Amino acid sequence: MIEVVDVVKEYVTSKTTFRALNGASLKIGDGEFVAITGKSGSGKSTLLNILGTLDTMTSGKVYVDGVDISALSGKEVAEYRNKKVGFVFQSFYLEPGYSVYDNVELPLVLAGGRAKNNRPLVEAALSEVGLLSKIKEKAVNLSGGEQQRVAIARAIINNPSYILADEPCGNLDTHNSENIMRILDGLHKNGKTIVMVTHDMEDAQKAGRIIAMSDGKIIDG
Ligand SMILES: Nc1ncnc2c1ncn2[C@@H]1O[C@H](COP(=O)(O)OP(=O)(O)O)[C@@H](O)[C@H]1O
Ligand SMILES: [Mg+2]
Repeated sequence: MIEVVDVVKEYVTSKTTFRALNGASLKIGDGEFVAITGKSGSGKSTLLNILGTLDTMTSGKVYVDGVDISALSGKEVAEYRNKKVGFVFQSFYLEPGYSVYDNVELPLVLAGGRAKNNRPLVEAALSEVGLLSKIKEKAVNLSGGEQQRVAIARAIINNPSYILADEPCGNLDTHNSENIMRILDGLHKNGKTIVMVTHDMEDAQKAGRIIAMSDGKIIDG
């Protein structure tokens, strides 16, 4: 379970201080599929990045499975990012010159090294997104929709409890978006907790719960 308690995030420059999160509080239960919606600039990505420890908060607390994530040691943060959460971003962030296999294997390599028994795990993750047939292909040769499916396979390779997805369909056409939403729905049905940022209300409707943000706060949901 994720508990966000009164989180404030300020971006400070020499001239101004901007509050991207202004006392956001929220609970997400295990196995939920939530969509975070809100206008551009409302703080959605900032919140998701804080949940993923990709960014730090100015004040407030985030507990994940009862653990205060701002109190994790460097080693624990690395483990949290690698194993507890899986990230999916709008712009896939694959290694373009690497094969699909190498892209999906990467978190396993970071966690424990290159090992023979990585292969069945990579194959299982690619099967889950319907891309086993592209395992030898270079990432750069795939379509956008396929690249996002590889990114999802990479996100689930260490069997994380939480999938954090920031506008996962933002760069995709309707057909590919539907495909990605179906995959996320399948992961949800298999027990993953999914937190998806989207400004597309049709995609948001597919989640079990819609959380609305405005000016750095949760206003609904
Ligand atoms: N690194 C940064 N430095 C300064 N301001 C930032 C930074 N990141 C985000 N912001 C500002 O914080 C606000 C919220 O950003 P963001 O969380 O990306 O919104 P959303 O994802 O809802 O569009 C925006 O006004 C944005 O300009
Ligand atoms: Mg954003």
